Amino acid sequence: MAVSRVDGRDKVTGQARYAAEHPADALLYGVVVSGTITKGRIAAIDARKALAVPGVIEVITHENRPRIRSFDLFYKDMTAPGGSPFRPLYDDKIHSSGQPVALVVAATFEAARYASSLVEIAYEAEAHETCLLDHLERSHKPSRLKAGYTPPPEPKGFADEVWDSALVKMEGDYYSGVEHHNPLEMFASTVVRGVDGHLTIYDKTQSSQNSRWYVSHVFGLSKDKVTVRNPYVGGAFGSGLRPQYQLALAVMAALKLERSVRVVLTRQQMFSFGHRPETVQRVRLGARPDGTLTAIIHEALAETSRNEDYVEAVVNWSGQLYACEHIRLGYKLVALDRFSPIDMRAPGAAHGVHALEVAMDELSYELTMDPLALRLRNYADLDPTDGLPYSTKELRACYEQGAARFGWHQRPGEVRSMREGHELIGWGMASGMWDAMQMFARASAVLHADGNLVVSSAATDIGTGTYTAMCIIAADAMGMPLERVRFQLGDSTLPVAPVEGGSSHVATVGSAVQGVCGKLQKSLFKLARKMPDSPFAKARFEDAEFAGGALRLRAHPGHALPLAAIVAFDGAGRLEEKYMMLPNVLKQKNYLRATHSAVFVEVRVDEAFGTVRVTRVVSAIAAGRIINAKAARSQIIGGVVWGIGQALHEETQSDDRLGRFMNHNLGEYQVPVNADIHDIDVVFVQEDDRIVSRLGAKGVGEIGQVGVAAAVCNAIYHATGRRVRSTPMTPDKVM
Ligand code: MOS
Repeated sequence: MAVSRVDGRDKVTGQARYAAEHPADALLYGVVVSGTITKGRIAAIDARKALAVPGVIEVITHENRPRIRSFDLFYKDMTAPGGSPFRPLYDDKIHSSGQPVALVVAATFEAARYASSLVEIAYEAEAHETCLLDHLERSHKPSRLKAGYTPPPEPKGFADEVWDSALVKMEGDYYSGVEHHNPLEMFASTVVRGVDGHLTIYDKTQSSQNSRWYVSHVFGLSKDKVTVRNPYVGGAFGSGLRPQYQLALAVMAALKLERSVRVVLTRQQMFSFGHRPETVQRVRLGARPDGTLTAIIHEALAETSRNEDYVEAVVNWSGQLYACEHIRLGYKLVALDRFSPIDMRAPGAAHGVHALEVAMDELSYELTMDPLALRLRNYADLDPTDGLPYSTKELRACYEQGAARFGWHQRPGEVRSMREGHELIGWGMASGMWDAMQMFARASAVLHADGNLVVSSAATDIGTGTYTAMCIIAADAMGMPLERVRFQLGDSTLPVAPVEGGSSHVATVGSAVQGVCGKLQKSLFKLARKMPDSPFAKARFEDAEFAGGALRLRAHPGHALPLAAIVAFDGAGRLEEKYMMLPNVLKQKNYLRATHSAVFVEVRVDEAFGTVRVTRVVSAIAAGRIINAKAARSQIIGGVVWGIGQALHEETQSDDRLGRFMNHNLGEYQVPVNADIHDIDVVFVQEDDRIVSRLGAKGVGEIGQVGVAAAVCNAIYHATGRRVRSTPMTPDKVM
């Protein structure tokens, strides 16, 4: 199916309300004061001038905040890495640049904003360390692990010895700088306080239940005192996987002042919490002259904060993508005086698979072999690390269909062999891989006597199309027209759903939706059998089908009962079911479950300026059954655009003397604009994976980005003969 999003009209007409847009009576406005040192302590705070501004009600600091819990445990949201989470306005300690140090609360936003500039803070600064490259020697193995994180596997074979004596080999060091998510919607929380003290919080988050859990724990509020809603989220890309500090500050103000409060961060403040970590990698590949890989060694060093071990699986895919007898993977962290990094679209894979795929390209030139032929030569039919089968893996079809669409077979092997005017032309390709995950979720469904179906789960739609996908799954299961189905999400009181992350929502929540519809079908069938003159009186469930908004006999489609009539017969006027979807872990653990891609790219490089245009991209994707072809294609296009940003534009620059990010705005933090984007062609190859989910779906989001930057890098090499081993590949590096 390919349909436009069901929430599209609400979005384009401004009916969809985001976290900072929900109204409340007598609302107060909080503006965050950001610290100006990177490490040390607050010596004194003078809020007198700020408090003198008309309309200002309070300046909340660590000295006068309401009571909050002190133990780490209470600050651990569902996605927290190991260690001690940051506690907003907890004490006088400053841990990182831009840390919130006060919240000015006023009757108007303008008064709060002006007064925030008048809060005087004296600091005692200490020396900080924010430069990864200066501190590589004090790396450590992650010890405080995160739930769900898989460390690199034990070495297989004798990778170092085999690499040393390999007939053909390459070695490369790769670097990727810090990146920030920059969703269009700023982080915001509107806390609406009811007369009974109940807090209804509109929060920008990738999980209403995660934020609800966090607020309850930090402030010691019982579960029924707090409801979190996030019906619409204006992008997040991972930055909303953890509750951000504006949530805690807004709740603090609401509790202290017993009022409704809104706190919205500024674009600059959006650079003061999690980011994609700066990462240094070394890849070594050994091969026989025919291209058979004999050794893969991939080691990564990434930054984390002093207080937490933020981990991501940077190197793991290097043991999963190509058949090889000798593999050694390593991953270490360096703790810096920065805020903890956080997952950002395809965390780990975005730069880990990048390094591997650039290294494979480098090896192909050492071998004088076509880069695609090299990948096919080493195609893995079993998990190279532990010999498990893939649940499904149509990567070969991605290579074939992508190459055909791109015209790859016409590619000259020589570098600098294509040009037009002042531009050198190059073609490059790369593989991509991302985990296909399924988590635990519940769903409920109510079929009304008017024939409308409402399905609910505390899922999230960060712009990815959850509303629409769930409506399609429910309509499909019930044989109902799409317009008759409504999906409710974004409310912590709805049935349990996980965070929307890891491209797992369709396989997870979608399976719960399918499951609850299955229960509804059974109940409808039972009821139908009892109806007077029922055509189903003697039928078995298997003899019936749900189609055209009715229950009918497969053998006699004319013998049908409209679903609305069956519900009406029940007397209650509604039929409700609940379902709990538990992944079949015992079955799943016997398979390597992943999505795959093959990306083909054409670049044109201005020979004089070193500017790069990505003029053509073909992305062939294997991601299980596709639920909504239109939304899935948009997800992949978005991923490709992000990959182009990773390749050519995005980097947050750190001034390590100050320990600060310097380009903390959209003027200087470069992302691709329309002029940077040309032809993007998306191909979905046939795949149906009943091990990842009963739906056959895996999930499309992050896989769209993985491998794109590597394909651009490889195309730049083909065009120019210049290998750029760090991202972004700016003109100064290209020429
Ligand atoms: Mo995504 S980084 O799993 O929100």
